[in-house]
Amino acid sequence: MNNTPNLCIALDLPTRDENLTLCKDLAKNNLNDIYLKVGLRSFIRDGSAFLEELQKLGFKIFLDLKLYDIPNTMLDALSEILKLKVDIITIHSSSGRRALSEIANFLKKVTNPPLIFAVTALTSFSDEEWREIYNQKINLSALNFAKITSECGINGVVCSVFESKVIKENFNNILTLTPGIRPCESDFIDSNLDSTNKGILKDSLQDSSQIDLYDAKDDQKRISSLDFAMKQKADFIVVGRPIYKSTNPISITKKILNKLEPKEAK
Ligand code: C5P
Repeated sequence: MNNTPNLCIALDLPTRDENLTLCKDLAKNNLNDIYLKVGLRSFIRDGSAFLEELQKLGFKIFLDLKLYDIPNTMLDALSEILKLKVDIITIHSSSGRRALSEIANFLKKVTNPPLIFAVTALTSFSDEEWREIYNQKINLSALNFAKITSECGINGVVCSVFESKVIKENFNNILTLTPGIRPCESDFIDSNLDSTNKGILKDSLQDSSQIDLYDAKDDQKRISSLDFAMKQKADFIVVGRPIYKSTNPISITKKILNKLEPKEAK
């Protein structure tokens, strides 16, 4: 079996009701064996009651609060988060070695702890903006953050898909979680088909409305197809707009999950 990424859908719709409608639709179609990424806006507005509703629908929760503070305050926040029984939480790796180690040690004593991911470099930073603060190239900083994160015993890092493979190759057992994934046509063409059949399928995908691909002219700069994310060995991928802005979120989610399904090794 190959390792394939887990899907996290970013619940970034403007209102609680819109997010919930999407989730109920997914659950109705038995598409609930996935992670829902609940970020600051939704959590601040909708609180833990919203998380409970999602959990009742059978989803796993990725609570993306990106904690960054002094170690003691982070541990206090973490103790509160544990009561929510979520599955993934995020912190900033720049909170430093002491905070990361104390958090990792604290979680070792917890039964069924959530997975914890440390953000390396936020993908919204340009190299220049990054350099102004850290006086280093952004990708070197990302690697350095991944090194510290791994040494401290944190489960994984949030990174750009372009850094995933090198981080996994350099730091043992570290998991990667990558946003900015944009499914594209070639993701859904079976690589076992011969070239004639591929051509026919490609034409039919273009002609028909059975596949509704999001046109990625948005703020994400470092985007990747599903195929590339798999080649980069991402363990978790985050997909937001390509699903919730699709005219048929169920269909595109099914296609993504089908693509991500573990296939027998040849
Ligand atoms: O809509 P889209 O697929 O771009 O959603 C990506 C999600 O991942 C958003 O919720 C965004 O805030 C989040 N994210 C990101 N880049 C990071 C960390 C989180 O895009 N470095």
